[in-house]
Amino acid sequence: MNFNFTEEQKMIQQAAKDFAVRELLPDVIERDTKAEFPTAHIKKLSELGFLGMMTAPEYDGGGMDTISYVLAMEEISKVDASVSVIMSVCNSLVNWGLETYGTEAQKEKYLKPLARGEKIGAFLLSEPEAGSDATKQRTTAEDKGDYYLLNGTKNWITNAASASVYLVIAHTNPEKAHKGINAFIVEKDSPGITLGPHEDKMGMRSSDTHSVMFTDVKVPKENRIGEDGFGFSFAMKTLDGGRIGIASQALGLASGALERSIQYAKERKAFGTEIANHQAIAFKIADMAVKIENARNLCLKAAWLKDNKQPYGLMSAMAKQYCADIAMEVTTEAVQIHGGYGYVKEYHVERLMREAKLTQIYEGTSEIQKIVISRSLLK
Ligand code: CAA
Repeated sequence: MNFNFTEEQKMIQQAAKDFAVRELLPDVIERDTKAEFPTAHIKKLSELGFLGMMTAPEYDGGGMDTISYVLAMEEISKVDASVSVIMSVCNSLVNWGLETYGTEAQKEKYLKPLARGEKIGAFLLSEPEAGSDATKQRTTAEDKGDYYLLNGTKNWITNAASASVYLVIAHTNPEKAHKGINAFIVEKDSPGITLGPHEDKMGMRSSDTHSVMFTDVKVPKENRIGEDGFGFSFAMKTLDGGRIGIASQALGLASGALERSIQYAKERKAFGTEIANHQAIAFKIADMAVKIENARNLCLKAAWLKDNKQPYGLMSAMAKQYCADIAMEVTTEAVQIHGGYGYVKEYHVERLMREAKLTQIYEGTSEIQKIVISRSLLK
């Protein structure tokens, strides 16, 4: 078993780290406080090729592997998870879904500008009454001959305002339950689309999250992805990969919190010595490090399976559940190590803790991952 990264993977990791420290860190607290979308930062991220890093070069992407993606996601998430969630939705949900299941015409028209980072994508599955229970889609796409008529509401949509390409999951035939669901490419400026207000979130405050309402939106027939009835399967397969992205985001939040805790513990003095010399603190650091190492190995194994064309849905659910849960534990411990300083914005760890909470919720809660894992083992 080879645990070494290639020179290219190390270069990508370093480039992501440099970008995070130089470009994201200086004003990350301000963006979080103001819930301000990182427009200029996303432009630079796209110029560096990170928004389409895994898409094949023939579709104008970077052609990098999933391991490189995990490494880049970890580095960026250490500093700004609002930016890494935008990157994750673009790469592993929207671009991957289009590249794997789109027609050549769809790839030419929609994937290429997404992979070049000229456009941002969004993935619209969740609804007011269909979050975890994703088969209960109420959004309908009525077949009108040469187009579908889309009506309904989607909730909690990352990139809703900044994206120009939406992948929308909707029912075309409710009688057929999940086999009557389809996925569509919808242009955000289509008539009949309105956005709800910006969600004032607890964490990842500078990524834009809105509900999206569709009222008689015409979607051309050629914008359906895959065969009729493929939509639920499309969503699940896409989320299998998406969960590697969010797992590595959670990993980055945890490892960022550990790095800050080690630095603080070596500087802060109490009872006549640096707090790192007290076992109460040193043992916390050791526990955090062991969890993070396990989390990293799960992420990399899921990525390796995907890169090697082996089934990865089980491993991505394991990685997502474990990384998200330990991110919450580790960031909470980081606040504890920092004491009063941990509870104020300047030291970053309170933000990492708020952000970690979301990783246990989106792209399937930790409980949903346990359903996926246990079903896979018990079937
Ligand atoms: N790949 C392919 N097909 C799959 C699949 C997978 N990973 N998982 C399930 N399916 C198929 C099943 O085989 C089944 O098809 P057949 O009947 O033809 O065999 C069909 O889908 C239904 O499967 P289940 O009976 O298992 O469905 P279920 O209703 O019991 O639950 C679930 C499935 C795993 C709980 C699913 O609903 C789920 O993942 N829910 C969470 C949804 C989610 O993650 N939402 C995130 C929104 S996106 C987001 O958050 C992005 C963002 O903004 C950051």
